Amino acid sequence: MPHFLDIHTTPQSDLRSIIDSAAAMKSSRNGRPKGAQDDETPLKDHMVALIFEKPSTRTRVSFDVGVRQMGGQTMVLSGADMQLGHGETIADTARVLSRYVDLIMIRTFEEQTLLEMAEYASVPVINGLTDRTHPCQIMADVMTFEEHRGPIKGKKVVWSGDGNNVFASFAHAAKQFEFDLVFTGPEPLDPEPALRAFYTTARNPREAVEGADLVVTDTWVSMHDPQSARERRHNQLRGYQVNAALMGAAKDDALFMHCLPAHRDDEVTSEVMDGPQSVIWDEAENRMHAQKAVMRYCLGV
Ligand code: CP
Ligand code: NVA
Repeated sequence: MPHFLDIHTTPQSDLRSIIDSAAAMKSSRNGRPKGAQDDETPLKDHMVALIFEKPSTRTRVSFDVGVRQMGGQTMVLSGADMQLGHGETIADTARVLSRYVDLIMIRTFEEQTLLEMAEYASVPVINGLTDRTHPCQIMADVMTFEEHRGPIKGKKVVWSGDGNNVFASFAHAAKQFEFDLVFTGPEPLDPEPALRAFYTTARNPREAVEGADLVVTDTWVSMHDPQSARERRHNQLRGYQVNAALMGAAKDDALFMHCLPAHRDDEVTSEVMDGPQSVIWDEAENRMHAQKAVMRYCLGV
């Protein structure tokens, strides 16, 4: 019963199988309506709990629709409305939920909450974002890159901006999928030191993106960041905006990605988001296909 907690703790061959399975499931739907089930319904008779302690649009909807397409059922739970938000321990919540559901996806704050849920649940647990990582997002990002450009192995990916949770999962993916990852951002917002083995740093964004096959950014203020830090972060990150000039310094056929939600004209200009190099809508769609494959992997179905 594998959990899906992080990209660096999931075996490399399993990650590759998940991406391949996601691509196969996507193409086999062949444009049918979103509410229609797949030919195969491996989640038939399965109940999936989706727990959110933070807001979500993509994660919530893509998991919910993905489960239904595979013939399963979901319940979407807000952490604040559960006893979890009123003092019941994570361990006890995990034990109880395991008696009702076959799979748990949780979006939470501290990574420790996810790890405890996984330790005490007797069903698989999927990481739907913590303050530290966002592995489902990067599985979709790898899938999206490969859909457009073929194997990501050996390619150059440049992250411009905050060294946050989404970057951390990119760093884990760089090791597992064997691509080169460059971080460009201000030193105070460097990624956590434990990730240093997985990427290189270039402080000058123009120099960083030279030869890039993919340029990525994310919001300058994440859900776990205090609003009081907003102005300081904006000042620190302004020079790392992804705009036409920065994209112009990357390879001519470089792609642009953003996990969304975006703050248009802060971390990325609308010109780039809506421009020909942007694959953000495919990226958002692929959350669903990638997560369907992650769920099949966890359940062994
Ligand atoms: N990218 C992402 O996880 O989006 P949501 O916060 O809308 O789920
Ligand atoms: N870094 C962002 C990602 C949102 C999907 C956050 O944690 O708020």
